[in-house]
Amino acid sequence: MEIVSSVKDFQFLLSEGRNSGKEIGFVPTMGALHEGHTSLIDTSVKQKKSTAVSIFINPLQFSAEEDLDNYPSSLEKDEEICINHKVDILFCPTQKEIYPNGPPEPEEIGEIGTILEGKSRPSHFPGVATVVARLFEIVGKSCAYFGEKDFQQVKVVNDLVKRRQFPVEIVACPTIRQIDGLALSSRNVYLTCLLYTSDAADDTPCVDLGGRRII
Ligand code: PAF
Repeated sequence: MEIVSSVKDFQFLLSEGRNSGKEIGFVPTMGALHEGHTSLIDTSVKQKKSTAVSIFINPLQFSAEEDLDNYPSSLEKDEEICINHKVDILFCPTQKEIYPNGPPEPEEIGEIGTILEGKSRPSHFPGVATVVARLFEIVGKSCAYFGEKDFQQVKVVNDLVKRRQFPVEIVACPTIRQIDGLALSSRNVYLTCLLYTSDAADDTPCVDLGGRRII
């Protein structure tokens, strides 16, 4: 696996992959990889794509009150995971590589950005669309893999591809869950205890997720 941080090196490796006759499979992430991400990677690898993963924590999709500074990061472990899952290229750009002229104007995404999660996080989906647009400009023709866990994000990205006519096919992959049903997410590391009620499990009202069991 090649690890690069510059757009130029990344594009060179992508073109090498294409020249060897393989299509590009692209999995954009913010790191702290888990089985949700590896299922996207495995789908790309199984489809015989030359598989590229990006790790970039995009400040534009966090509001001032959100957890940008503490967002989980585990680059060494992520590299190992990517190697084990047969990723060809790992792209870990700096902010300067992604936004060389500073933060760009956010993408206009219309009403989808204002409903559901967008209601409480109005800058989130425009921020996602802005970085995904930039990444698609860099990667070019490809299949890009997204998890259905972030259903609204998949819709935003599909709209973006149509509007901007990116040569990218979006592949939405099923949500991967823990045994107790919780969807895997990088932010689950924040959870110490998940409290839930279940008719079937009156004697087990609380499930431990972080080493503590609280009833
Ligand atoms: O789903 C994510 O991890 C992010 O929103 C994405 C698509 C990588 C954009 O930063």
